[in-house]
Amino acid sequence: MKRYTVGVFDSGIGGLTVLAECVRRLPGCDYLYYGDNAHAPYGSRSAEEITHLVRAALRVFSAYGVDAAVLACNTATAVCAQLMRKEFPFPVVGTEPAVKPAAERCSRALVLATPRTIGSDRLRSLVKRFPWCAFTLFAPPDLAGAVERAEGRAEKVKLEDHLPRGNYDGVVLGCTHYVYLRKEISAFYGAPVFDGNRGTAQRLASLLSDGGERGFAGTADHKSGKTGTADHCGAKIGTADHCGAKIGTADHKLGKTGTDDHFGEKRELFDKNGKNSAKTGAKTSIFYLGSGKTVNKRIYEQMFAI
Ligand code: DGL
Repeated sequence: MKRYTVGVFDSGIGGLTVLAECVRRLPGCDYLYYGDNAHAPYGSRSAEEITHLVRAALRVFSAYGVDAAVLACNTATAVCAQLMRKEFPFPVVGTEPAVKPAAERCSRALVLATPRTIGSDRLRSLVKRFPWCAFTLFAPPDLAGAVERAEGRAEKVKLEDHLPRGNYDGVVLGCTHYVYLRKEISAFYGAPVFDGNRGTAQRLASLLSDGGERGFAGTADHKSGKTGTADHCGAKIGTADHCGAKIGTADHKLGKTGTDDHFGEKRELFDKNGKNSAKTGAKTSIFYLGSGKTVNKRIYEQMFAI
């Protein structure tokens, strides 16, 4: 069976919660996780800036010859998923606030998301599809930033500084960073919380299985190892050596760490691998990229219990 390479992208650590779901749902893939931690949080940036940053990250994925990319970021999905689908040859799976599952169980639900997601036409038209549920949309201005700074430690984020009080029978976590606080947010409102992570992983799984049969996964260029050339990556992104077929070689797989300066910013690269799925025995490898000075190794290790 074909082994897929999947790029998972977020502004920072939030998307690791989506990656965890993808790994559960689809072990046996090679995952690249790109956390754009030099530019997080995205939520208050302009649509142009976000589009520019997401495009740059997807070019890195393209250079690695991914079979599919996941925008593990509601903000990036709301702003530019459609455009990215036109620009890149691989499928781009988005993450959407879990409005539908909330509407199925609630009559007064709160949707929490970044300012850019809350302001999006996409979210507004989504909630209109469920008129029987009264949705209140709220954008905590800096909650994603607080989670990023707290490295996902819920005890370091004071919810009362970020969240409105109110009586809701369900809360939609419309930002992947908030998933770190799922228990605390649920307790804060005394209501169940909903996130879009499982839906995203399912969508990825069905795309890969359909595509596997139809052979969508990658253009001829991707498949024939041409990825990583200056042509393919755009001259600014890495060298052929780094971008190209080296991902997944023995060097990477053995967990060696290294540094590189994609985007002109130093970052550490490392991977941890060899997590075997108890169910299938499939070996999952995860290769972590960051754009900041360091990648958050602690949170990564904790998330995957390595
Ligand atoms: N985790 C992202 C989301 O789901 C973005 C948070 C941010 O960078 O503001 O929207």
